Formats: sequence, structure tokens, C-alpha cells
Amino acid sequence: MFPINVFFLILRTLIVTVQAKADVPPPPEPEPIEIIELPLPPVVSAIEGSCTSEVDPLGTGCILQRGGLVQAGSFLPDGKHVIARVNYTGAAATPDPASIYAGDQIILIKADGASFPNGSPFKCITCGVPQGNAQGNAEALDYPQAFRDGRRILAGTNIIDCGEFDLVSDECSPASTFIYPIRWNTTVDGSGEGGSLRELRLHPDNLHIGFNSFAYTAGKLNQYAYTGQLTFNSAPDRWRFTKNRQSDKSTKSAKSAKPAKPIK
Ligand SMILES: *[C@@H]1O[C@H](CO)[C@@H](O)[C@H](O)[C@H]1NC(C)=O
Ligand SMILES: *[C@@H]1O[C@H](CO)[C@@H](O)[C@H](O)[C@H]1NC(C)=O
Repeated sequence: MFPINVFFLILRTLIVTVQAKADVPPPPEPEPIEIIELPLPPVVSAIEGSCTSEVDPLGTGCILQRGGLVQAGSFLPDGKHVIARVNYTGAAATPDPASIYAGDQIILIKADGASFPNGSPFKCITCGVPQGNAQGNAEALDYPQAFRDGRRILAGTNIIDCGEFDLVSDECSPASTFIYPIRWNTTVDGSGEGGSLRELRLHPDNLHIGFNSFAYTAGKLNQYAYTGQLTFNSAPDRWRFTKNRQSDKSTKSAKSAKPAKPIK
């Protein structure tokens, strides 16, 4: 005969299962997604002076059709501007004021259809920055990421800093913009070249960054992940780390008797 306690156990299991199912909320209604295309500077050939006032009436620079947009970056914290890394080309020679729109640069693009006061949807942040404001900076400006203060951008191993001014403001001019390199001490006394950082990512706290670095051990290439806390060192002008921490995983692989699998 079927024991009564087993019957109740099955009944209870069924009720719990049905109730648990009823607790799962229904999926939300699908939301509309709008895709908008951002403007990019006019395109020309790589010939000096090809970025004429006909193609670029506002005189804010031209790019190559292929490779002109090097990388799209993050939004600024206002949600109205997107950072981009572009490769300007075709600028007139100096002393033409448009000659600053040359090569690898970081620009802001209006993402809400508005314009900067000069009528252009673009503002170049790094163009024309005086050499004295960019001492020892690294050339590559990859993975541009905005700080939450709207005044600084992490790009490559540099911090582009407009001091007390918002990057979008007119006060943030080439003269008030500084490009500071990030220094990573890898010797006890801080001597030497410093470590080579790659793939930098800004932590949401805006005080730390994550990065990785290649290491060569016994003829093999390894890669380790780190986090570091940034502090500003005004003499010489540069950002540096006060604390470095290698990820537990890397520390483990570095210490393991068997060499970590090299990258081929
Ligand atoms: C920019 O364009 C020049 C000329 O085509 C090229 O030599 C250079 O590598 C480009 N830079 C980047 C960052 O793409
Ligand atoms: C790195 O080394 C420099 C000297 O080259 C020193 O001034 C600086 O304090 C060091 N930074 C850290 C975080 O130890």
C-alpha cells in the first residue's frame, strides 16, 4: 500500500515547485533601441593641404576615409559627448592655424546633435598642446576613457588633464591642457626606464587602473595582470603609482615550478 507520508511528501514538493515557478517575474517588455550615427570629420587624401576650406569650412581638420577613425572611446560623464581617437590628415603647413589638426589625436564628438561654439560637432583635445605641456608623454593614445570629473581622459599610458576646466568648456584650450605620462617604478630606488604598461583600464573609483605587462622568462613570453593606485607627482609632472598589486592568479603562475605557458 502507498504510505500516506510519501503521498504528502510528493504533494508538498509539487506545491513548492508550483509556488517557486509563480515567483519568477515575467520578462520585461522589449524596449526600443535607437541607433544613432555620430558625425566624423570630413575625409580627404593624405596630401598636405588637401583639407581645404571647401571640404572643411570650419577649419577643424580632416581624416582619411580608411583608418581616419582609429578608435572610439567612452562617453564623457555628461552622456552628451563621445571620445574618439582619430588620425588627422591633409592639413595645411604651419603657420596655418589648421596645421595643428595632424596625426594621432583625441577628439570629443557631440552625441546629441549640438555643436561647440565654433559651429563644429568636434573638439580636438590634444591638437596644438604646447610641447612644454606634454613632457615625456607616450605617443600612443589608445583606449581613451573619461574620468568622472569630465576634466581628464586616460589615453594610452597618458592622462590628458585640463586642470580645473571641463574638457568641453572653452577654458579647456591647448594652453590649459596637459598630457602627463604614467610612471611605473619597477626598481626599489625608482631608477631606470620604469615598467612597460599595456591595455590600461580605469577603475570606476577613478583612483586605480588595471593594466598588464609582458615579461620574458627563460626565452618565453608571459603576461601578468596588475592593479595600481594613481597619485600625481608634480616634480617631475607625471602620474605614478603608490601601490602595485599583481593579481593573485599571476602571482601564482609566476611562482609555479612549471613555467607558465608562453604566448606563441
Ligand atoms: C596615421 O596615418 C599615417 C599616414 O597614413 C600613418 O603612418 C600612421 O601610422 C597613422 N597613425 C595611426 C595611429 O593610425
Ligand atoms: C619612483 O621613483 C622616483 C625616483 O625615480 C621617486 O621619486 C618616486 O617617489 C617613486 N615612486 C614610487 C611610487 O615609489
